[in-house]
Amino acid sequence: MRGTTVITGADGYLGRQLAAALLADGDDDLVLAVRADDSSELAAKKERLDQRLGPQARSRTRVVAADLSRDDALADIDTRSVTRIVHAAAVTRFNVERDLAQRVNVDGTARLRAFAARCDNLQRLAMLSTLYAAGRRRGDVHEERLDDVGFVNHYEWSKWAAEEEVLGAAGELPVSVLRLPTLVADDDGGQVTQYNAFHNTLKLFYYGLLSLLPGDGATPLSLATASFTASAVTRLLDPAIADGVYHICPDPADTATLDQLVDTAFTVFERDPGFQRRGLMRPLPCDQESFEDLLSAADLLRGGPINQSLSSVSPFAHQLYLPKTFRNDALRAAWPGYTAPDPLALAETTCLRLIESKWGRRTQETP
Ligand SMILES: NC(=O)c1ccc[n+]([C@@H]2O[C@H](COP(=O)([O-])OP(=O)(O)OC[C@H]3O[C@@H](n4cnc5c(N)ncnc54)[C@H](OP(=O)(O)O)[C@@H]3O)[C@@H](O)[C@H]2O)c1
Repeated sequence: MRGTTVITGADGYLGRQLAAALLADGDDDLVLAVRADDSSELAAKKERLDQRLGPQARSRTRVVAADLSRDDALADIDTRSVTRIVHAAAVTRFNVERDLAQRVNVDGTARLRAFAARCDNLQRLAMLSTLYAAGRRRGDVHEERLDDVGFVNHYEWSKWAAEEEVLGAAGELPVSVLRLPTLVADDDGGQVTQYNAFHNTLKLFYYGLLSLLPGDGATPLSLATASFTASAVTRLLDPAIADGVYHICPDPADTATLDQLVDTAFTVFERDPGFQRRGLMRPLPCDQESFEDLLSAADLLRGGPINQSLSSVSPFAHQLYLPKTFRNDALRAAWPGYTAPDPLALAETTCLRLIESKWGRRTQETP
């Protein structure tokens, strides 16, 4: 029987990719739930999704307003029709304030869980989380419910707390938590449409605005593309696959370290004439205490470009001193023969595209 999949945050970076993947791979109708403050914002979001998904999607999609920070969110959706829910909505800034993270990421997930409990025909509620819901722990991280060991920012904490909301319903509801790595490109071609701490840090290095390298060089960094992630989520939504916690990431043996990634990035930068002209040195490794000093100094330069750039890097940089290995045995079992992007090849093509596009500026300037 044809089902209905609800996607929250459907106009976000992954929400859009997932909507396209589910339209291409399956015959479910899609309810695309988006945050919209009023009817004009909803109309604008509808229009953008329509352009993105194409006219052939119209007969299978419905866009609804659903602000998960409000109690009446999702009231417009007929619960009887819903068979699967993908929860992609969240405030995703690493420097999100605690209150906002609580209201949207944690309480919003609790509202979604209550909605899911009213869907009598529900086969799967899948929440998109982050590998860094593991917080400050070091060493092996398994695909299981995690204790609170402290977090380096409110975003991480809120994703862990949202997982608790979802996993608290395991046994009563068919719930999965899908922990994602850092997405650095749309696909293996290295095109970037969503910029995050990874890209911003590289930008600082490329323009010579950061000469220290925070972190322990041996820290593994799990990277992936949006297209790999969308394929994995699509597969794990299949009700025939066991619910539970999954790490959607490359195998530990195929995960590059911070040192390897920085070496790859600088090898690409050093071939670029613009970078060569600046005559910059590679950044010096820096221990945690020295990095904290740099952040305090940058704080005094309030509003300057270095302070602005560092503010996007610093909420995450502490993780670079906490090496951990994300085990993905459950993913491997559920998806035999899967191929994750090669991390160094992905880093190389992504750096090339970043230089070409000047970190997105060139694309924006093009009419
Ligand atoms: N991309 C990554 O590298 C990555 C890595 C690990 C985990 N994840 C997780 O994957 C999920 C999707 O990430 P993404 O990269 O697609 O993020 P994104 O592009 O920032 O999209 C987030 C979506 O959530 C919506 N949203 C924000 N506040 C909301 C509210 N109050 N009610 C309803 N919707 C709200 C946003 O709408 P507005 O923009 O209109 O507010 C947007 O559509 C998130 O849960 C994130 O934590 C992503």
